[in-house]
Amino acid sequence: MFEEDIEKLGYINHQIDGGIDIIEEIHTCRKQKNAVILGHYYQKVEIQDIADFIGDSLQLSQVAAETKADIIVFAGVHFMAETAKILSPEKKVLLPDAKAGCSLADSAPAEEFKKFKQNYPDHTVISYVNTTAEIKALTDICCTSTNAVQIVNSLPKNEKIIFAPDRNLGNYINSITGREMILWDGACHVHEEFSLERIMELKKQHPDAKIIAHPECEKPVLMVADHVGSTASLLKFSGKDSSKKFIVATESGILHQMKKANPEKEFIAAPPKDSSCGCNDCNYMKLNTIEKLYTCMKFELPEIRMKEELRKKAEIPIVRMLEISKKLGL
Ligand code: 13P
Ligand code: SF4
Repeated sequence: MFEEDIEKLGYINHQIDGGIDIIEEIHTCRKQKNAVILGHYYQKVEIQDIADFIGDSLQLSQVAAETKADIIVFAGVHFMAETAKILSPEKKVLLPDAKAGCSLADSAPAEEFKKFKQNYPDHTVISYVNTTAEIKALTDICCTSTNAVQIVNSLPKNEKIIFAPDRNLGNYINSITGREMILWDGACHVHEEFSLERIMELKKQHPDAKIIAHPECEKPVLMVADHVGSTASLLKFSGKDSSKKFIVATESGILHQMKKANPEKEFIAAPPKDSSCGCNDCNYMKLNTIEKLYTCMKFELPEIRMKEELRKKAEIPIVRMLEISKKLGL
């Protein structure tokens, strides 16, 4: 992906003048180019602080669909920037690091999914937005972790459904809705790494803390959680709930907004199974740096490009998701 852009940027990255004020330069570029910076909650703190909009994947796709900016700089991962391009094809969409992928999106290769789908010809396909455009083109309705339950419930009770690609989110929705959706066997390497044992040890040390978890976590972690929800939902819950302490089982970037909004509360990042790895950080999300944000805005690279035929097919399930979400006030 973007081989040419990566090659050019390899050269450009060596051209940053050490004396410049990167933050000032980003502000200037943003103004001069009428660009908007969208930042996911899992981004590095300095990127979150300079973004025009911070949000989860649903909130950012809603902004991307409606922005009046000429350039969308998507500080997130590839499937998010690709979704923005699908919704706003006339705009230039930039991703600070072209290698910012997603293990969950990678767990559903389009050719294999196409064959899988052929086994269930009378099923409706609901896909989490954490997928490639090729998977979206094979999908009837998209969803995010914020609206997944409502999107599934918007279909008749007897509708046969394939849910892709996250098996943990799919299992969670099955348990909430009482449906028996067929699940694609994919997962996110960050959310699967949380250790129930280590979370329970933490809970022993902090019995007054509430456990809050993203639905991409495995079932045992979700079962001990006081609240399960998307990153935006976890942020909202931690603000409204009367508890003063939270053990947070999702990517650690969200802790920045939690602490900012609730300086009097304590937020503890849930630990991964392997204590030697920082698995509660998404290595893809964290590829974006403030320096790359600057070079990407200055040189307008790497840019998301897509064949119009694919874009049109991938747009249908995303627009359906946005319409249902709007109707439901999400
Ligand atoms: P959200 O829908 O909560 O933004 O999740 C995105 C994501 O990448 C989760 O791992
Ligand atoms: Fe993908 Fe997981 Fe990273 Fe989210 S946290 S972008 S699902 S790899």
